[in-house]
Amino acid sequence: MKTRLVVTGTDTGIGKTIFSAALTDALDGCYWKPVQSGLDEETDSETVGRLGRLPSDRILPEAYRLATPASPHLSARIDGVTLRPEGLLPPAVDRPLVIEGAGGLLVPLTERTVFADVFALWQIPVVLCARTGLGTINHTLLSLEALRRRAIPILGVAFIGDAQEDSEAIISRLGAVRRLGRLPRLEALTPDRLRQAFAENFNIADFREVPA
Ligand SMILES: Nc1ncnc2c1ncn2[C@@H]1O[C@H](COP(=O)(O)OP(=O)(O)OP(=O)(O)O)[C@@H](O)[C@H]1O
Ligand SMILES: [Mg+2]
Repeated sequence: MKTRLVVTGTDTGIGKTIFSAALTDALDGCYWKPVQSGLDEETDSETVGRLGRLPSDRILPEAYRLATPASPHLSARIDGVTLRPEGLLPPAVDRPLVIEGAGGLLVPLTERTVFADVFALWQIPVVLCARTGLGTINHTLLSLEALRRRAIPILGVAFIGDAQEDSEAIISRLGAVRRLGRLPRLEALTPDRLRQAFAENFNIADFREVPA
């Protein structure tokens, strides 16, 4: 079995897609976004393909493409789609697979199921993306509690943003979690710059050694 990882975050808009592009590129893997809400702007799959310079066959089709940019449970209701979380299964591929959830862990897919419930069924190790800025300690520790409560395996935390050594250290200590690295905020978000920043700040072996 190849490496499979779930990339989740403490919130929406914190940089999961940018991180996933760099990680998929570094692993020479495939990317899958199970549920995409909002199709007017560049989708997460398109961003990963562009920034990770991935051929189109490495971007696996989304299980649900919802037009309305909202929480999936609401997007689905507005779009008239019935979302079936139990049917969401990671595609079988012969390369490492990076899976990006929508928003954060407790984002609802339906009126009874949140994303973390699906991750718990999968039992695929999670990389928790967290900001370095103010508020991150609380959000990150809460997310770690939600993961542990569901017995979801945790690979570690990937920080995103400007250096805040004390925040990273206290999260690692109180959350008893591994710091995988920190992706700095990049002024020019180009494929080359992203690849370089990932290589400088993360050790790809940390992600490869994960038992599938
Ligand atoms: N390391 C970075 N350097 C510069 N800009 C970044 C970085 N990471 C994220 N951004 C910017 O922040 C915004 C949000 O990032 P991104 O789309 O990756 O968030 P997300 O967590 O995937 O959000 P969603 O929950 O909608 O999937 C984007 O405009 C992106 O370009
Ligand atoms: Mg995203």
